Amino acid sequence: MPASSHPILQCQSLTKTFYSTEPPTPVLNGIDLSVEVGEFLVVMGASGSGKSTLLYCISGMDRPTSGSVSLQGRDLTSLDDSEMSQVRLTQMGFIFQQSYFLGNLNVRDNILLTALKAATRGKNATIERVEALMDRFGISEVSRHGVTEVSGGQLQRASISRALASDPTVLFADEPTGALNSSMSSEVMDALSDVRASGTALVMVTHDPGCAARGDRVIYLRDGLIVDSRALGTWTKAQATRREDELLAWLRDLGF
Ligand SMILES: Nc1ncnc2c1ncn2[C@@H]1O[C@H](COP(=O)(O)OP(=O)(O)OP(=O)(O)O)[C@@H](O)[C@H]1O
Ligand SMILES: [Mg+2]
Repeated sequence: MPASSHPILQCQSLTKTFYSTEPPTPVLNGIDLSVEVGEFLVVMGASGSGKSTLLYCISGMDRPTSGSVSLQGRDLTSLDDSEMSQVRLTQMGFIFQQSYFLGNLNVRDNILLTALKAATRGKNATIERVEALMDRFGISEVSRHGVTEVSGGQLQRASISRALASDPTVLFADEPTGALNSSMSSEVMDALSDVRASGTALVMVTHDPGCAARGDRVIYLRDGLIVDSRALGTWTKAQATRREDELLAWLRDLGF
């Protein structure tokens, strides 16, 4: 590991087997991974290769079968359910393909509800933080709208605001643009790329090479193993096309 590295999230020899099936389904088969402070790591691989399972196991949403996961040096696999919930609420943010907002609350109140529950700061400071995030991600104008009265892109930017409200150490995103058209998708990727600016690490699963090209590093999963990885360096708009082309060539070589 280089001297300058600052791993925030690490897993070693991580395995996950589902015993609910007969025969049992081994899905993760020994994953070693280290995510740096503020790094944007992308997880790719064919459908069924174990991407979501990996995300769930490193974020404490599911328990690995064996191996270790640590966040800022703290072993997550030894925590009980309530300790793990607290870590998820205060140190992690989550963005999924669907936003899972409550239909009876407006956009702002949905975000506030989660932020107040995390209680990483006082009530007034939390409200200020949420207002600032909604401003930063361009959803202040629709903050009093119901969640069915905004676009998919706005809703995902609201999800990002909600996920960042507690200043998480790491944000996990599982196909955050999977349900969006290409212009909304690029709005959301602009917002996600901005996450790193505040030092929050981002681990994102995607099928979309254009979205993946925004990352700092891409790992490629096959049958629950990391079979290759590629460092991309800092993204700029000027070299976006070249970067995506290079990534596509790499993915094609891997049989994607
Ligand atoms: N709860 C479960 N019980 C049994 N098998 C499961 C369970 N969850 C996932 N699997 C199996 O694990 C494998 C990997 O699933 P996973 O959802 O991690 O894949 P993925 O790479 O995210 O795929 P996709 O790109 O389609 O989202 C699949 O074969 C899936 O059927
Ligand atoms: Mg998945």
